[in-house]
Amino acid sequence: MATIESINKEKLPIHVAVIMDGNGRWAQRKGNSRIFGHQNGVLAVRQTVEAASELGIQYLTLYAFSTENWNRPREEVNALMSLLINTIEKELDSLLENNVSLHIIGDTESLPEDVQKQLSAAIEKTRNNNGLNLVLALSYSGRWEILNAMRKLALDVKNNKIQANELGCDSFSQYLTTADLPDPELLIRTSGEYRISNFLLWQIAYAELYFTDILWPDFRKEHFFDAIVDFQKRERRFGKISEQINSESVN
Ligand code: IPE
Ligand code: IPE
Ligand code: MG
Repeated sequence: MATIESINKEKLPIHVAVIMDGNGRWAQRKGNSRIFGHQNGVLAVRQTVEAASELGIQYLTLYAFSTENWNRPREEVNALMSLLINTIEKELDSLLENNVSLHIIGDTESLPEDVQKQLSAAIEKTRNNNGLNLVLALSYSGRWEILNAMRKLALDVKNNKIQANELGCDSFSQYLTTADLPDPELLIRTSGEYRISNFLLWQIAYAELYFTDILWPDFRKEHFFDAIVDFQKRERRFGKISEQINSESVN
């Protein structure tokens, strides 16, 4: 497994996104309830936040609850919401100590009121921190976000605030919940599933994808470093050819 020393600090991704998957299977393999798996996923979150902070990564987005996850059994949804409240409360001091500022993306108005309050308070308290930006995707899905952006955009076109033919990728991005964030260069998914599950559909157009069989509750700093080392070996061509990329890096 990779250590922090094996990472080239000059070639770090600015933004890493993670689909934290496999809590239910982890617990069921141990003969426990799925909820036990979610509770044990908190340590993996802490490890990932610390690893990203130690490396000096600027943005870390964690997919914590999707729009589709509302369709899970009610007890599981309730348990996830309670866990969210407890975790924010318990982890707040450590976020402050590590200079982390908290942000959320998603349809946050659909979250229970106590969750919304807790999140707003934590966002406010960490607002002046200038280390890692930790973005939680909650009640989030890529299609919801794009549709939502389209609704706002259609209104702006109707009200003559923007002309449809003036719209480009950069101006469209400003309508997304990630307007203030750079696109992720690396997307990690745990648990051996090879899909995107409606996460950051627009933003990952050119992200490097990294899949690992590790189930989320077993994910540790070293696994995060492994993903970064793997990322650093990739050649990111953005449609060009290798020779062009190599001559650009020399010049
Ligand atoms: C990810 O783990 C956590 C959430 C989606 C909230 P899962 O709960 O999806 O675990 P598996 O994929 O069923 O094992
Ligand atoms: C994706 O995991 C959502 C989160 C990690 C929050 P899921 O477990 O819900 O995804 P699917 O259903 O396997 O695609
Ligand atoms: Mg899953």
